[in-house]
Amino acid sequence: MKYKGRFGDYGGFYVPEVLIPVLEELEREFYRFYKDDGFVAELAELSKNYAGRPTPLYYAKRFSEYVGFKVYIKREDLLHGGAHKVNNTLGQGLLAKYMGKTKLIAETGAGQHGLATAMIGALFGMETKIFMGVTDIERQSVNVHKMKLCGAEVIAVEGGTGTLKDAINDALRYWTAHVSDTFYLFGSACGPHPYPTIVKHFQTCIGTEARSQCLDQIGRLPDVVVACVGGGSNAIGIFSGFMDDEKVKLVGVEAGGKSVASGKHAATLVVGKVGILHGAKAYLLQDKEGQVYETESVSAGLDYAAVGPEHCMLKDSGRAKYVAAEDAEVLDAFALLTKKEGIIPALESSHALAYVISQSGKLPSDTVVVVNLSGRGDKDVSIVEKCRPLK
Ligand SMILES: Cc1ncc(COP(=O)(O)O)c(C=O)c1O
Repeated sequence: MKYKGRFGDYGGFYVPEVLIPVLEELEREFYRFYKDDGFVAELAELSKNYAGRPTPLYYAKRFSEYVGFKVYIKREDLLHGGAHKVNNTLGQGLLAKYMGKTKLIAETGAGQHGLATAMIGALFGMETKIFMGVTDIERQSVNVHKMKLCGAEVIAVEGGTGTLKDAINDALRYWTAHVSDTFYLFGSACGPHPYPTIVKHFQTCIGTEARSQCLDQIGRLPDVVVACVGGGSNAIGIFSGFMDDEKVKLVGVEAGGKSVASGKHAATLVVGKVGILHGAKAYLLQDKEGQVYETESVSAGLDYAAVGPEHCMLKDSGRAKYVAAEDAEVLDAFALLTKKEGIIPALESSHALAYVISQSGKLPSDTVVVVNLSGRGDKDVSIVEKCRPLK
């Protein structure tokens, strides 16, 4: 089983014995239902009428004029809950229902996955527990409140740095003791097999839609597709639509934090080394002794020391390129999109925008760039106000 779910040498299944049959059951049930007519129809109906798919591909005219080439924005921020996370929670929540599970657990960083899970818990009438680090609870308090309003219990995780890594540790620990009735609704395209495959499957709608929207609206494929990378789900979702189009460049943008040189960042693919965390082999931020770094980023959703295995493979093969955007550039990007377009981006998504801005003056004016706006920034307004007070 250790060799299942590999992306090149990455991924796999490094978990305690007790979880092996549970993950095997999850894999079996996923392959049983994901193409089932009833499952597909129910997911399509909910994606449309509950979540709000398809999301628009928007030509950002004033932002484009500023950077000097054409920027199209895939508006995942318009989905119910305010981020791409609902694509995955609807899919896995429905899978949990088809599997007869009655309880959901999830980890969360920015609170967007926690909120998207809490929404689905309410929708399907399932008892829901969300594990969240204490640092993230403080900086994403609006989402904590929303999760509670949906009826979820938010469990504060004190260990480590009180961020996503610690929340995953505690959620996995809880799951090992409650496997019989509880479904672990994992939030990103990382962790042990089969999660990277399952989460990617439910996020491919972003790339499939974006590709056909480019052909319809622009009459051609884009030159570059850009997305931010935390665990990697929104990026793999949009990349998947263009993977076979070799001329389309794929760029993933990680959290450069204060600066990559200072060591206070979460740029896993940019400077990480291969290791094992949370059940999978992947690039990791670790010191010489293999201890996982304490990551740091202005955005809770990218503040994670590991990354999905498929991104590791894409980095090695060169099919995708990974770069880091530092907090200061991210705050500039947040402000710029808001001022130019009246769209407030999530700080996570602002990393992708920061890379786009960094290309200003470097690309011909007819270049078409598609950027995945993974979420909206309402949850981040008070953080931005602290970093950059309005006059
Ligand atoms: C809006 C938004 N974008 C991106 C991410 C990063 O996750 P992923 O890399 O799985 O897309 C998060 C995580 O919380 C998020 O809230």
